[in-house]
Amino acid sequence: HEVEWSLEMAEKAGYPHFMLKEIYEQPKAVRDAIHGNAEVIRSVAEEIAKYDRIFIVAMGTSYHAALVAKYLFQRLAKKVPVVEEASEFRYEFEELVDEETLVIAITQSGETADTLAAMKLAKGKGAKVLAIVNVVGSMATRIADLTLYTHAGPEIGVAATKTYTTQLTVLTMLAVELARVLGTADGEELRKLEDGLKAVPELVEKVLTHDESLRELAEALRERRDFFYIGRGVSVPTALEGALKLKEISYIHAEGLSAGELKHGPLALLENGVPVVAIAPGGKVFDKMVSNIEESKARGAFIIGLGDRGELRKVSDVFIEMPEMDELLTPIVYVVPLQILAYHLAVLRGNDPDKPRNLAKSVTVE
Ligand code: G6P
Repeated sequence: HEVEWSLEMAEKAGYPHFMLKEIYEQPKAVRDAIHGNAEVIRSVAEEIAKYDRIFIVAMGTSYHAALVAKYLFQRLAKKVPVVEEASEFRYEFEELVDEETLVIAITQSGETADTLAAMKLAKGKGAKVLAIVNVVGSMATRIADLTLYTHAGPEIGVAATKTYTTQLTVLTMLAVELARVLGTADGEELRKLEDGLKAVPELVEKVLTHDESLRELAEALRERRDFFYIGRGVSVPTALEGALKLKEISYIHAEGLSAGELKHGPLALLENGVPVVAIAPGGKVFDKMVSNIEESKARGAFIIGLGDRGELRKVSDVFIEMPEMDELLTPIVYVVPLQILAYHLAVLRGNDPDKPRNLAKSVTVE
């Protein structure tokens, strides 16, 4: 056992956990995802352009990537995909799938039972199936007509980190290229977005420097029982993913929601000291976010604001300063401090973040 132990330590490369190592690998992983797909993205976008009926199916963190893809496809390519959990899709949408349908399956492992079932169903109905996968040669790649790889390298921690940000990278490239093929967005705007994407690894590096202050924040919040994560637009999936990370590894109850929904129920749960994590990059819904933050504050919530605006700093109890970037790139960068916060809370509460209770890296049974 001594040998195994030192092997594991070597694999962690000096990090106390795989999860932290994988969080820190994200700048490189995103870079690899960009380079790895640069040549192939055009032909896949040309194929997608032929379809009007598009479903995107996935589970867990990959499902949150699918939700981000919905915003990207809508804004850039003016296509509105139907995004469904694969476990729902496989039983609800059977009759709506035919030869004119494209199903995009997002799966890190390429082995998730529900996602594979959804893909097989789609194939059976004659639909075209595109898989976005991390594990090379996995089952999903064998079922799919087309595969794009995320090139994140192996992910050992059960909670997905670098495989999520690389999924988002590939999906951003795909949406940009699709918009180019379809002529639905200004060429200059698309070029800027592409350049912005190439700068994302550096932005992630910057955000990683918040690690120590996030650890201190976790220290202050370790006894809290409920967290809320709010966002609007493209930040809604980030809110969901932030909450999921916290649940998975810290075992703290967390809810992610669109800020517009606060008033329709969740506000009743806010009382003194309840942490509300507000994902609020500058953009067209920024002012609306500030109103939501103020209404949460009025109920005593403890506001953790993530953004790039001075105005956000003023309304936050703790402000996590983010670099400026195109709003459509924020999902990749803003999730990083949420991963780190969840990681520290897990460790401080005595949990092994790499092996959370009751969860598996890949769910191969229904
Ligand atoms: C499990 C993992 C999650 C993952 C989900 C989907 O629940 O613990 O981290 O997001 O499966 O996995 P997939 O491999 O299909 O992306």
